[in-house]
Amino acid sequence: MFDYQNRMKPREALEVSPFNTGTFEWRMNTRSIDENSWLQVDAAREDDLLLKRSAPQGLHLAGSEESSQKLLNLVTNWLENRGVPSINNADVMHPIDRCGQLTQEDVCLMEQIDGLWVFTAGSVSFPTRWDPRLKLGLPLDQIHDPVPRYEADLRPRPANFMNRMPKDKIVSRTGWTLTSSDSLRLMPYYRIEKCAPDEIILRIERQTLRRIPESEAIAFTIRIHRWPLEIIGKDTDLSNDLIRALEMIPDEVSEYKKETVALSKSAQQYLLEVL
Ligand code: HEM
Repeated sequence: MFDYQNRMKPREALEVSPFNTGTFEWRMNTRSIDENSWLQVDAAREDDLLLKRSAPQGLHLAGSEESSQKLLNLVTNWLENRGVPSINNADVMHPIDRCGQLTQEDVCLMEQIDGLWVFTAGSVSFPTRWDPRLKLGLPLDQIHDPVPRYEADLRPRPANFMNRMPKDKIVSRTGWTLTSSDSLRLMPYYRIEKCAPDEIILRIERQTLRRIPESEAIAFTIRIHRWPLEIIGKDTDLSNDLIRALEMIPDEVSEYKKETVALSKSAQQYLLEVL
């Protein structure tokens, strides 16, 4: 089990509860956040950055350098203004890789091509069951092809939202999964492993979106948080929301969220016992 003691706790890391407790529906659930909350730095930064150094790089289309460099300037300034070290990384790397090597977040660059928001560059070390190489160069809706109900629940709102994003706005949203793996890097094509109920991990993706100054591009960041149910069980409201959200997962989504569904019963039982 990874050491979660030196990492952000649920209430420190999340602006709001990540769970929908009404009927199931994918929602935008974007919240405005302030500049200070854009990225998150905790005591595990060194460990995460070390791990990132061994992750694959080079996920970028030709032409993405200029906006990636502007994003790198934004990241570097943000870190420097908060006294966080931001010089470790070699000039020879593509600027998007340099961004990723400085932040615990993964970073994706979205640029408009022929009226569509396209994933043109990324530093993605810690995906949650998706393969970044297969998404590079795809427009937003196509990236979400494997997500059941995306069409009915969300399209075209994510793209419209990005079209209309004001210059100075930063938003966050969250996604969540149950997993028995404590790894930060979860690739697709896996076997579901059993684990003790208190070791089931609630994995949260805290995502942010913001325009990159002096460019037409948008930065999409993904920060992974992992908490074993042992930790979640100590928070009554969060536990009740999770139990409710697990009950709500509809059949049409269960194959897509198969690991979450496989661990759902055991997670619910555990939380009900400790509450
Ligand atoms: C406001 C904007 C967005 C919304 C509302 C949204 C919504 C969603 C939802 C509901 C899912 C499924 C979550 C789950 O598994 O629990 C998802 C998955 C995903 N999203 Fe987004 N998303 C947004 C922006 C983006 C952007 C900008 C990217 C750029 C890379 C992105 C990349 C992905 C990927 C790679 C997946 C996994 C797809 C797969 O399983 O193959 N999303 N998103």
